[in-house]
Amino acid sequence: MELKYHIVTYGCQMNVHESEKMAGILRKLGYVETSTLNDADLILFNTCCIRENAENHAFGNIGALKKLKKEKPELIIAVGGCMTQEKGKTEILKQKFPFIDIMFGTLNLEELERLILLKKQGKKRVVEIREKEGEIIEFDGAYRTSYPNAWVNIMYGCNNFCSYCIVPYVRGRERSRKPENIVAEVEKLVKEGYREITLLGQNVNSYGNDGNTNSVDFAKLLDMVASIQGDFRVRFMTSHPKDFNEEVVKVMAKHRKICRLVHLPVQSGSNAVLKEMNRRYTREKYLEEVKMLRSYFPDAELTTDIIVGFPGETEEDYLQTEELVKEVGFASAFTFIYSPRTGTKAATMPNQISEDIQKNRIMRLVKLVNSLTRQKSEKYLNKTIEILCEDYDEKKGLYLGRDEYGRMGYFKFEKDVIGKFVTLKITKANGISLYGEAENVR
Ligand code: 5AD
Ligand code: SF4
Repeated sequence: MELKYHIVTYGCQMNVHESEKMAGILRKLGYVETSTLNDADLILFNTCCIRENAENHAFGNIGALKKLKKEKPELIIAVGGCMTQEKGKTEILKQKFPFIDIMFGTLNLEELERLILLKKQGKKRVVEIREKEGEIIEFDGAYRTSYPNAWVNIMYGCNNFCSYCIVPYVRGRERSRKPENIVAEVEKLVKEGYREITLLGQNVNSYGNDGNTNSVDFAKLLDMVASIQGDFRVRFMTSHPKDFNEEVVKVMAKHRKICRLVHLPVQSGSNAVLKEMNRRYTREKYLEEVKMLRSYFPDAELTTDIIVGFPGETEEDYLQTEELVKEVGFASAFTFIYSPRTGTKAATMPNQISEDIQKNRIMRLVKLVNSLTRQKSEKYLNKTIEILCEDYDEKKGLYLGRDEYGRMGYFKFEKDVIGKFVTLKITKANGISLYGEAENVR
């Protein structure tokens, strides 16, 4: 009988892609995927620790497996990802969940195969977490699950130490992949039929700053990737406002393949808060970058991340964030309540904000962001957009895909057009979703 795996992924696109790599390793070992926990022979949790609630989810779901493991002792339970890389976390996991069989970190995920084999040889529990990042190990065995999009790492780690953020502690210092390896990967993916390539890094603008890329910086890399022959589009994330620059925008202008959408996390609209966050840019610099981008493309869209309730944030500071949100007119924004992370500078700052105030601010901000997104949707009525069809919604009986700005469009079609670019005439805007009629398919 075939062995089956089930992977539960928490967190960002980096984790989503790393789960694809883990799936590749499991398939090499002969496992096939199952969508249910109950018939899995191996369950893998790829965890996230960016905020407390991400950890709580993982804790809850791992804990819930106690019964299953008792009934089925041969079941292998593995935990990897950012949480295991956190100082002292594996000890807590071991104590709370003695039934976990394998623990590994983000810095040694390619060792998963060896760790599973060790477990199968009879080792009771296999725990191997690498403390420090090593050389990049090129890995081309990912089992991709996001067709027609393909995630491509350009770099790992982060050097920024924003005062609230745990990422630099769990993912180590910045390491850039060699440009020739990235280009070769994208060429292969395009040949295989992927039609959207998303370049991933914690701070893509500092690509090459580690001296690993033969002086190729992010603008140059983007140019190289967008110059690859084929009918596909290019996205990249995440940009950091302290490093985002006109060179990158010039490359965007050179290639219609590059989506005119920039994910540029602002975090706060108050200079005092930005300083305490160690973001190393001001509100004014951020707004100037937006202006620069729109001087090239008046229709460029931006998305962002915002944290409310950071230590010391006053009502005045918060209102400056609201003002900035209105001024930029983000296409959408991910909004978060500040969550103290042990080991980060902000966790020990005085003036932590009460939960009541945090909740009140996030509610107001979400309302504002949603109203802006809705207003933008309405402007799409009777316009024509081009989406990349990515899925079929069984319930709605409609195909769906996103335009270059990330806006979701639904439509009816008589045959499978997943992976095709479809021109849609928008007939209805419902909240954040658009509905249209397909006019052209390519
Ligand atoms: N609390 C709340 N949000 C956080 N983020 C990062 N660290 C924290 C934290 N401690 C948010 C930032 C970042 C996004 C990925 O997660 O907005 O851009
Ligand atoms: Fe975290 Fe800042 Fe690095 Fe982003 S740039 S991963 S917020 S430390």
